Amino acid sequence: MSAAAGVSVASSSAAPAAARWPLDERIEPAPQRVLVVGGSGFVGRHVVARLAAAGHAVTVITRRRARARHLILLPTVSVVEGNPYDPAVLTRHAAGATAAINLVGVLHAHGRQGFMLAHSELPKLLVAACTEAGIPRLVHMSALCASSDAPSQYLRSKAAGEEVVTASPLAWTVFRPSVIFGREDRFLNLFAELGRRLPVMVVAGARARFQPVFVGDVAQCIVAALADDATIGQRYDLCGPVVYTLCDLVRYALRTAGFERPVIALGPTASRLQARVMEWLPRPLLTRDNLRSMERDSVCDCPFPALFGLAPTALEAVAPDWLAPAARVSRFDAYRIRSGR
Ligand SMILES: NC(=O)c1ccc[n+]([C@@H]2O[C@H](COP(=O)([O-])OP(=O)(O)OC[C@H]3O[C@@H](n4cnc5c(N)ncnc54)[C@H](OP(=O)(O)O)[C@@H]3O)[C@@H](O)[C@H]2O)c1
Repeated sequence: MSAAAGVSVASSSAAPAAARWPLDERIEPAPQRVLVVGGSGFVGRHVVARLAAAGHAVTVITRRRARARHLILLPTVSVVEGNPYDPAVLTRHAAGATAAINLVGVLHAHGRQGFMLAHSELPKLLVAACTEAGIPRLVHMSALCASSDAPSQYLRSKAAGEEVVTASPLAWTVFRPSVIFGREDRFLNLFAELGRRLPVMVVAGARARFQPVFVGDVAQCIVAALADDATIGQRYDLCGPVVYTLCDLVRYALRTAGFERPVIALGPTASRLQARVMEWLPRPLLTRDNLRSMERDSVCDCPFPALFGLAPTALEAVAPDWLAPAARVSRFDAYRIRSGR
């Protein structure tokens, strides 16, 4: 496992100079009414749970309510089905809210338009709805390495979304995480699942570098930002404590999940070929656009933003909780108990 000291840090592009005190320990702000778009997903479930735990009233707009059923039982959370690209839907649910959070993201899309629709057009519509409904505050989720000259459509469209948000008159905060890990991720879990099914792991883009950040830390920062005006007008890069290559991460996931498999690192040409083939799958595991994103090291060049007063969680400290064989067995036990078997 490569822990690249010196580069294993995260940055805030304009973070306040000194840590003050952990946001979680401050006097609780008044409960807010928060509109969340993209809240049914991996990051959303953690953000929404934290918002509910803090007593905020939350409305989650989802295109399919069934996808957000895990949120329905949370107190103070209402899940509404609707088309987030319909300005009337956004404006209707924005009415009365005090803040909005945008967590919409797509890793695979059909061409430039698909990415731009989710990452740039939707923020435009959300900014317009917030402005019309008088919502002053917007927290927006982008991605580390998003930039207008990035090699992939994903990263360029994320940059376009940031431009929309930062040019708006709203009190915005932008988060730019590296890859995010957590119990429900489609990252370490995917490697472990492939390890269970395949005798050999063949890894495209194996040398790409990441600095994975824990979903609990990301959610804590997002919720804390709503409570602190010092985060207004700031972009925060979020990374965990250690830099890894993709190959390191695959090996780690396999080992932790108890699957000893040979891991073959593909070179650039074979990686592109594999991505081109996988693009044809109904739910692609990898696309050439994903590979192009990996041409930029997803690592931070500054420490975790001090304002949030937390030491980012190490992957090794928590990932065995859901990857290890014992964890998988206990998960099956839970299913058996629930089904009365
Ligand atoms: N996970 C990571 O490693 C990572 C790393 C860097 C940045 N990010 C960013 O963090 C945010 C949250 O990521 P996540 O991992 O939670 O993603 P996720 O699990 O895929 O959830 C994304 C959400 O976006 C909505 N969505 C998906 N496709 C959409 C489309 N075409 N149009 C409108 N809405 C759509 C979905 O809402 P409904 O289906 O309910 O409508 C879903 O709840 C995204 O902006 C992502 O780009 C994630």
